[in-house]
Amino acid sequence: MVLTYLVKAVRLFLVTVMTVASVIIPGKTQGKIEPAQDGCRASFAAMSDVHMKNNFIRQGMFELGLADIKDAKTPLDAVVFDGDNTDRGYDKDWDTFATALKKYGITDKAVIAIGNHDTRSHEYVDENGRKVDDVEAIKSTFAHYNKVIANRDINETYYSEIVGGCYMIVLGSEDGGTAATVSQRQIEWFEEQMNLASLTRLPIFVFFHQPINGTHGLPYTWEMKDDVPERGGIGEASDQILSIIKKHKNVFYVSGHIHTGLIAEDAGKGYATVERYDGYTLINLPCYMYPDVIRGGHFANGTGLVFEVYDNEVLIRGRNFATGTWLTKYDASIPLK
Ligand SMILES: [Fe+2]
Repeated sequence: MVLTYLVKAVRLFLVTVMTVASVIIPGKTQGKIEPAQDGCRASFAAMSDVHMKNNFIRQGMFELGLADIKDAKTPLDAVVFDGDNTDRGYDKDWDTFATALKKYGITDKAVIAIGNHDTRSHEYVDENGRKVDDVEAIKSTFAHYNKVIANRDINETYYSEIVGGCYMIVLGSEDGGTAATVSQRQIEWFEEQMNLASLTRLPIFVFFHQPINGTHGLPYTWEMKDDVPERGGIGEASDQILSIIKKHKNVFYVSGHIHTGLIAEDAGKGYATVERYDGYTLINLPCYMYPDVIRGGHFANGTGLVFEVYDNEVLIRGRNFATGTWLTKYDASIPLK
């Protein structure tokens, strides 16, 4: 009990300190959100792991970023929240998250993925003393808040949107648990969506809270040990999802979950925020709410990425949304094939 309060107190302290630090520490380049070059056909912001609670400090930290997005010089076409939008998935957490988005006019633009923390309030202990997830409650809460926030009608934890002509395919676990549960039905749906997306000949964006197993320094970056290879990733369905991605060109798979913070490609760590492969790119978003303290990423909260789609490339740009600054060290240009 004492330990729980201590952990909570330390976390609250860290969030408070970093909220203040994010505002007063100068970023790399000041400037409102606008495309870096002419000819941008679509742009969107992406953040992950907001971990919203009904708590004024977290709410304030989130609103700093939403104000930056609202204040964009060129309006973004979408704003992606890649899971762990709430800390426990209680209605009061989701309501705080939804109210903030409404306050800053980020509703119809919101693309929301489910994270493992968004399911926690639906875990209970059955008559045999086992932890069980209420799968129907997980789905209905997620669907309800997609409706409340973005007026989106869904009845699964996965769906797709088209933004600036590009497919944005949102995948999601269908159960609680740290790794993802992905049904064969979702896998088949994903394959169909990828085939449709390829017909556009435009880049394809896939969002899933959990990273592909073994990427972005996993499993080491999950618990700072290497003993279980699939730990910290999607889990069982990872190979199937990756094999579908590999059948297509110009795929951008965007995850969160690990909380490593932004890590530059040339940082020499052996893992990075942006990992380039032949025909696809894996991107791991930093945690918005908590600063990284042990995994060696950029030490600040309020961070995420802005994606800009051009005819010949996709630009991925680091940003501290809370301070309204570009973090150019983490920028990556991915040429399209
Ligand atoms: Fe998280």
